[in-house]
Amino acid sequence: MLKKIFRDDLEKKIKELKKKRNAVILAHNYQLPEVQDVADFRGDSLELSRIASKTDAKVIVFCGVHFMAETASILSPDKKVIVPDVHAGCPMANMITAADVRKLKKEHPEAVVVGYVNTSADVKAELDYCCTSTNAVAVVNALKDKKEIIFIPDKYLADYTSKQTGRKLISWNGYCPTHVKILPEDINRERKFHPFAKVMVHPECLSAVVALADVVLSTSLMGKFAKESEAKEFIVGTEVGLIYRLKKDNPTKEFYAASERAICPNMKRTTQEKILWALEEMKEEVRVSDEIRQRARHALDRMLEII
Ligand code: 13P
Ligand code: SF4
Repeated sequence: MLKKIFRDDLEKKIKELKKKRNAVILAHNYQLPEVQDVADFRGDSLELSRIASKTDAKVIVFCGVHFMAETASILSPDKKVIVPDVHAGCPMANMITAADVRKLKKEHPEAVVVGYVNTSADVKAELDYCCTSTNAVAVVNALKDKKEIIFIPDKYLADYTSKQTGRKLISWNGYCPTHVKILPEDINRERKFHPFAKVMVHPECLSAVVALADVVLSTSLMGKFAKESEAKEFIVGTEVGLIYRLKKDNPTKEFYAASERAICPNMKRTTQEKILWALEEMKEEVRVSDEIRQRARHALDRMLEII
């Protein structure tokens, strides 16, 4: 942890430069506390996509992982999207390529293709619909007239969505290396320690973990649930970074990580120093080519129309 005097100085410089550049700082819920503290908006993938599509700022500093910055660039092509750490990627997004999707489409020519937002822009260009963990069930439910649905790349989100909608989905062997670290025995152990706690689990978790949860929610919906629930204690089955925000928003409630091992190293690459540096240098810029952007935008717009 940086000394408070250094932190105050950094935060002041970031604030000043942000104003000068007409920039907005967006941070995913898994970002380090010091990053969440200087962000203008914090949120899950769906909320950040919506904010990116609506902001009046000229520059978006995206504190998250690469596909999120690409999504912001697709939705706001007239804005400059910069990332404080260009190496912050998402291993799940890297588990499928556009060529893989084209092959799947050839094998299932009648199928409509739904893809998780955790995909590259090239992959999004191949989709009919995009979805996030907040709206995957609603998107699939909106496709009642479609005979076959390909759902990529997360096999656990696909399994959860299939169970919730009663639809058979053609899935891919992708997964989040962070969420699969949470095991059924972690949930059982934490329940024993905290018998009155509600168990909230992200749909990227193993199906056996999802089966043990009281509620299955995206990161921001976990925040909403914690606020509205009468429960005072919660076991949190997702990346540990969310707990900082949950505690801040609900100071009278207790939150326990289902597993301290659920840390996404990519989400932790961004720091205040890198944010300041990005604003000073105005890089690294993330830009999607016009051809890919137009095709990918179609899938994102269709999602934003549903929910
Ligand atoms: P949400 O914040 O949309 O639930 O996504 C979780 C995640 O793993 C993002 O990479
Ligand atoms: Fe990707 Fe998982 Fe990290 Fe989210 S938590 S960015 S899905 S690796």
